[in-house]
Amino acid sequence: MELTLTLDATSAKPLQVQVFDQVREIILEGKLKAGMALPPSRLLAERLGISRNTVNAAYERLSAEGYVKARGTAGLFVEPIPPDSLLLIQRGGQALTNGPVPDETGEPLLCFAGSPGGGGERPELDFWVGRSDPAGFPLRIWRRIVNRLLSHETAYLTDYCDPAGLPELRAAIATHLRRARAVAVTKDQVVVTTGGQDALNLVFNLLKGHTRQLCIENPCYLGASLIFRSAGMAVHPVPVDGDGLRTELLPRDRGSLLYVTPSHQFPTGAIMPLTRRLELLRWAEETDSYIVEDDYDSDFRYDGPPLTALAGLDGGRRVFYVGTFSKSVGAGLRIGYATVPRMFWDEARMMKARMSNGQAWLEQAALATFIDEGHFDRHLRRLRQLYKARRDHLVATLRRTFDEAMIIGGESGLHLVWRLPPGCPPARQVQVAARERGIGVYALSSGAAFDVDQGARDDMLVFGYSSLTEAQIGDAVGRLKSMLGDHA
Ligand SMILES: Cc1ncc(COP(=O)(O)O)c(C=O)c1O
Repeated sequence: MELTLTLDATSAKPLQVQVFDQVREIILEGKLKAGMALPPSRLLAERLGISRNTVNAAYERLSAEGYVKARGTAGLFVEPIPPDSLLLIQRGGQALTNGPVPDETGEPLLCFAGSPGGGGERPELDFWVGRSDPAGFPLRIWRRIVNRLLSHETAYLTDYCDPAGLPELRAAIATHLRRARAVAVTKDQVVVTTGGQDALNLVFNLLKGHTRQLCIENPCYLGASLIFRSAGMAVHPVPVDGDGLRTELLPRDRGSLLYVTPSHQFPTGAIMPLTRRLELLRWAEETDSYIVEDDYDSDFRYDGPPLTALAGLDGGRRVFYVGTFSKSVGAGLRIGYATVPRMFWDEARMMKARMSNGQAWLEQAALATFIDEGHFDRHLRRLRQLYKARRDHLVATLRRTFDEAMIIGGESGLHLVWRLPPGCPPARQVQVAARERGIGVYALSSGAAFDVDQGARDDMLVFGYSSLTEAQIGDAVGRLKSMLGDHA
């Protein structure tokens, strides 16, 4: 079939993204059906008058996201995708207008229970997840921006700002999300929060009036579990496998709120394929449920093109997207954000006003400038290289030391999972023994992770590698080897 694409060379959107978006649209509209072949990249490139590399990049992303699959040398063929009428993927950013009216019960706000590390000394070589490298903080540029701001624009030091966050920062976040995650939001759908935790609380508080049941991945992120478990509502744990949350096990009752980390499941690292993402959206639509997508570490993807977020597929209907700068810039900033479907905007802004009446101006203004002046993109490129090298070193050292060690979830983010070889003691025992040797590694039911069944899957260890040097990683793996001895 001939593909009719209209490219705009003057657009800010890169050509490969335009090709990706339009071919994806043609597939979702059902014009290119399952089993049909995409035109060879050389042909399409010639017809469009663009380079073959551009078409190849778009095809690679379509393949990574599961829209098409290669069949040997025969080319790329469209994968089966449930009919659009069932998917209810809404394109064009229309807002949802049905659904119950938010219920204001005036329940007290939930609080975060402090550092999940639970105090105590940090181990000498700590693979605690998601710690950005202290030496990677862009201190020189940050200092320059802050000095400049303090010498010119100080009105908001003594005055209140928009409770939803500094408009310049909200606009910068919306632009970043559109480019990096294909999430089509405007600044008037973005609420700036105190880190991702505050964003999760905001979304939970917004939706609790709509919610009869809370669904959570199992195992999952401790911070999210703390919010859900203290809500006094039924919590339904949904198991995860190598493709993330098992959508077929979601309850069919109406009115659920689901917490999910599809792009890098926390803690297992699984990446949810497109078919499951679409099933999730269909489930939400059919059961009148909402989804909180926690995209905590998506700025770091090392292998293959970036994946479209669930919120990008949903088109602003049922997915509330939560992001954080804790991994990409630094947790000490305490800046995160939530995006909300348009119909929730006024309520979200009012809720943020009730919760904290906005965020500290200086950090927001500095971050907005950091992004707008292009420093953020450069900083991310540098960190991606650094963390990829650490990931590669950890994977290579584990594989060399433990005979083809099985590694999961290393394609993106700041942590990966090592499945212990048969014959090894359970992961929680290994965790305790490693700790005595100055090494922090974490079973799926500990650290920043929570497992409702408390150790039901006790053969995996989580390694957050981003804040350790390659020499430290080598040292730690060596100590693990001498500790595990003949077991592994
Ligand atoms: C899965 C996940 N979600 C959300 C967060 C929230 O991050 P913060 O509140 O530090 O911005 C974290 C932090 O480690 C996380 O691991």
